[in-house]
Amino acid sequence: MEVDRYERIWMTGSAIFVLSAVIAVVSSVVFHTAELPEPAGRIEPELVTQTAPFDEPGLHQRDDGSWELIYVGQVWAWTPQQVTIPAEARGEEITIKAASIDVIHGMKITDTNVNVMLIPGHVSEVAVTFDEPGSHTLVCHEYCGIQHHLMGAEIVVE
Ligand code: CUA
Repeated sequence: MEVDRYERIWMTGSAIFVLSAVIAVVSSVVFHTAELPEPAGRIEPELVTQTAPFDEPGLHQRDDGSWELIYVGQVWAWTPQQVTIPAEARGEEITIKAASIDVIHGMKITDTNVNVMLIPGHVSEVAVTFDEPGSHTLVCHEYCGIQHHLMGAEIVVE
């Protein structure tokens, strides 16, 4: 079968393009250990508010001196609504643990690296360090219903 020269060039180019994409994906998995995010734990959504540490939302300093910030997400509010990070926790690594009691929510804290999904049944975990005093907004960035846009909270760093 006769294939036009330009047709052949396009076919070859397309094949090279697809092949490079496959090589890129495979090599990122094999050589750079790219992987899907895994939940930090599992939890029954209806039991979140009765299960530690989610039965006590807010900032806690644990016995070993580490800091933990616990959030519960639900339509359409975060618990707690307001958190103050004391000056002694500034510059320290804070582990945020969050869980949803109902639907999927998104957790984004402005001007930080925090950007995780809250999937019902999963515990989401992310580390954050607040280096400067100031105010941050915690927003839900996953559409979760009619009042999604109102799902915000505040973090004040002393
Ligand atoms: Cu929660 Cu949008």
